[in-house]
Amino acid sequence: MWSSARSCLRSTRSSLHSAVLLKNRNGTRRLATATEKSLFKPLDTFSDRHIGPNDAEVQHMLNSIGYESMERFVDASVPPSIRLKEAAVDNAAIQPLSESELFGRAKAFAESNKPFKSYIGMGYHNAVVPPVILRNVIENPAWYTQYTPYQPEIAQGRLESLVNFQTMVMSLTSMHVANASLLDEGTAAAEGMAMAFVAGNQRKKTFLVDSGVLPQTISVLRTRAKGFGIKLVIKDFFEGIKDEAIRSDLCGVLLQYPDVNGHVKNYTQLAEEVHSASALVICATDLLALTSLKPPGEWGADIVLGNSARFGVPVGYGGPHAAFFACSQRLQRKMPGRLIGRSRDATGKPAYRLALQTREQHIRREKATSNICTAQALLANMAAMYAVYHGPSGLRQIANKVHGFTKVLKSQVEAFGYDVENQCFFDTLTIDTGIVEGSASAVHRVAREAHINLRHIDDIRVGITLDESMSAEDLVRLINVFASAVSANAVSLSSLQPPPASNTTIPEDIQRTTPFLHHPVFNTHHSETEMLRYIHHLQNKDLSLVHAMIPLGSCTMKLNSTSSMIPLTWPEFGGVHPFAPVDQVKGYLEMIKELEIDLCKITGFEACSLQPNSGASGEYAGLSVIRKYHESQGEANRKICLIPVSAHGTNPASAVMAGLKVVSVKVLSNGALDLEDLRSKAETHKDNLAAFMITYPSTFGVFEDGVQEACKIIHDNGGQVYLDGANLNAQIGLTNPATCGGDVCHLNLHKTFAIPHGGGGPGVGPICVAKHLAPFLPTHDIIATGGSKGIDAVSSAPFGSASILLISWAYIKMLGGKGLADSSKVALLNANYIAHRLAGHYSVKFTNGNGRVAHELLIDLADFDKKADLKVMDFAKRLQDYGFHPPTCSWPISTAMLIEPTESESLDEIDRFCDAMIEIRKEAQEVIDGTQPKDNNLLKNAPHPIPVVTLSEEEWNRPYSRQRAAYPLSYLLEKKFWPTVTRIDDAYGDLNLICDCPSVEETESMP
Ligand SMILES: Cc1ncc(COP(=O)(O)O)c(C=O)c1O
Repeated sequence: MWSSARSCLRSTRSSLHSAVLLKNRNGTRRLATATEKSLFKPLDTFSDRHIGPNDAEVQHMLNSIGYESMERFVDASVPPSIRLKEAAVDNAAIQPLSESELFGRAKAFAESNKPFKSYIGMGYHNAVVPPVILRNVIENPAWYTQYTPYQPEIAQGRLESLVNFQTMVMSLTSMHVANASLLDEGTAAAEGMAMAFVAGNQRKKTFLVDSGVLPQTISVLRTRAKGFGIKLVIKDFFEGIKDEAIRSDLCGVLLQYPDVNGHVKNYTQLAEEVHSASALVICATDLLALTSLKPPGEWGADIVLGNSARFGVPVGYGGPHAAFFACSQRLQRKMPGRLIGRSRDATGKPAYRLALQTREQHIRREKATSNICTAQALLANMAAMYAVYHGPSGLRQIANKVHGFTKVLKSQVEAFGYDVENQCFFDTLTIDTGIVEGSASAVHRVAREAHINLRHIDDIRVGITLDESMSAEDLVRLINVFASAVSANAVSLSSLQPPPASNTTIPEDIQRTTPFLHHPVFNTHHSETEMLRYIHHLQNKDLSLVHAMIPLGSCTMKLNSTSSMIPLTWPEFGGVHPFAPVDQVKGYLEMIKELEIDLCKITGFEACSLQPNSGASGEYAGLSVIRKYHESQGEANRKICLIPVSAHGTNPASAVMAGLKVVSVKVLSNGALDLEDLRSKAETHKDNLAAFMITYPSTFGVFEDGVQEACKIIHDNGGQVYLDGANLNAQIGLTNPATCGGDVCHLNLHKTFAIPHGGGGPGVGPICVAKHLAPFLPTHDIIATGGSKGIDAVSSAPFGSASILLISWAYIKMLGGKGLADSSKVALLNANYIAHRLAGHYSVKFTNGNGRVAHELLIDLADFDKKADLKVMDFAKRLQDYGFHPPTCSWPISTAMLIEPTESESLDEIDRFCDAMIEIRKEAQEVIDGTQPKDNNLLKNAPHPIPVVTLSEEEWNRPYSRQRAAYPLSYLLEKKFWPTVTRIDDAYGDLNLICDCPSVEETESMP
């Protein structure tokens, strides 16, 4: 290991390196031996590339902090009581693959997915990704490695793109405000239901769902309704509202427009009736259809939601996709998820930022009705770029083509003698196959022979949904399935007639008459040159991992390797419908199984569900599993959830959503969990104790000694332990959640397992559970998955965001067991080295008894506030001038920064970061000493963008030079990243919520 200079952390690079050393010292014979040994091993091994520091650097860091070997260092960092005795995570357990071997295996999986053309619909369409967006957004690390834009001065590009997304949604739906994405359509509907429940003051408990709503959405609603005690009624909407028992207790209704069978109805009058019952109208819809249909905002909807994936995001076996969510003005401050607004910077220039950040779950904790944190920013950006690229007339053309093909299909199948159930439609038909011998099953058989999937509705009816990806030849093939099933003559392309443009199937009263996407941004960048430049113009404003380390504590911003990203955009993975028959997705299922098995080995648990789309969704799923387990034991009364005050805000929010009552547990002044408080609360609530949620290592960045004792206290009092696995990067191969004493944990694949953060999503939050909880894992109504007594679905798709599972699968397979364990060790070492370098300059808030932190460290800046009025944000903004993304600010302690370097950062980069922090410390000292004024200094005025450092002599009223403002350390002459605006005014932004793109008139009057 790292104890000697000839250790082999890196099998290839180090063997070559040591061979050279041997040659220099000992002559050629030994060199030959070393070379021969490596001759049959691949050279493209991954851990060499993934782990930042090399052997010598590792040794240097170990020596700097006073350890001669890695083993000694790890022994001092991780409590012996929880160290794994046997290596459950080594190369025997998970064998490493080289990059090229990985591609070979991924190719084999791809080839075992059958490339059928799916017209199944049900909210999922084949999308066409414009190549300029494919190459320059989804395949571009400058977009996909960004973090959530909490630091707006270095995130104006993605903020603008997310505003484009919001504007696109607002314009197409005709709603007052839209957010910057939610996880998927089902969970968006559940968020809508929770909003309706809150709007009715949680007194009215009936929520009516039209039977035309997507079945997977209904399943997610069922899960969510249970936690809130909402009564879900699924009925034909037209009947339901007449029922007085429903009407008097009604908080909201959900309808689908067009519905799952393709019907398009006028809901104007029903919306009035719902409003007269003081309930909310929630409409799930399709953005492309809204180019032709009267937008819900014009007929009375209060909330409009759906999935934006058909705007250029591959279906990917279910995700990830950006759900959208829009609402009326009166509900805007209750809307879940992130909202981007326009504010101004310190010079008065307009600038974007996350609006109403205080609404985020970190603050609301147990008062929250939503736990959404990570969402789908990258996919929202793709969808927004698609709208920018096509503009309103391009979208209208696409909609006309899809609708026109559907009309041709309808007239052809009717000519063969079939009945089409819905005469009024956009892109979906329900076809009665009664005239075919063998009815629907015969039609499905013929379709399968033509490599086509149709929707199974029942024995008689089949469903078909058309999309943009369809060629005229595809249309002919589809029509001929219906011809063949009734033994009619096949049609040819030349025999097809386009329907007359006037022949619309959408009644006049629900046709769209209002223009959409009239904003300049949607009417400018239509050539590829313009689009390419627009994408790069935005990208250049944003700091991502392509520029520098992003040391955000609790976020684990590590390398998102190119090799693990490559298979993601292969069409064999991108083009698969989530409800395709299982014999067509063998490659996907095998990859999913392997990932589940590896995650179980890593966590020490028995079973895994990959369904949750984010960490918070995993928390909710895990707690719901615990509830169901207690119910199965006849203990439905167990509803108390103990949560330390230091927990992430999503923990209490998820507990509330799962129907639990939160009781806080104290932490001691040294940051450790207060075991006595835990014991006393567990005993007080022993008859009703459901669960205890704990993050390990703690959010204070320390491996606490008492974790097993804490878990025992809970188990002794009848509760289950939920371990928040956000910090799993510190554990792999050293300990695991099962050994710590947990019963269930979630993992953030978008942290520990290298799925890129994408500027705020996608994410995947699988849960792993002990044997007794395995039967309760989430199920799915359409594709069998989960446990035998499982909870209902927590996501729309059976395996959540299935396509990005490939990234974590590749990451694990390429590192292998040893590479995974080595990654955790170096993550610990990098953090401890930073703690060592910053000690003496800053106060490292918490360490263990040996003076060690875990994989992250908290530095407390409270003293600077007291002495010099310098806040955490002043340090953060000044770091931007030094070219770094600031660490996590003011969490879990308001006066602190949480720093997490990860294993991927090299010693050079870490030293550069420490140099910057130390230099800023000196600048702060000048304010403390009075050489710089408290209200006009390098930190308070940070960041310093180009327009500020180029102010005229008269305007430059600062007690420091421009040189010092922009280039305080010499490395910046080479590596300068310029924030594009100066500090943004948060308070102004929240008071003046502007959440859409400027209009043509506003653009004219802008500076
Ligand atoms: C400790 C902890 N738990 C839970 C979460 C929630 O994860 P997600 O953002 O994927 O919902 C986070 C997110 O940063 C976290 O740091």
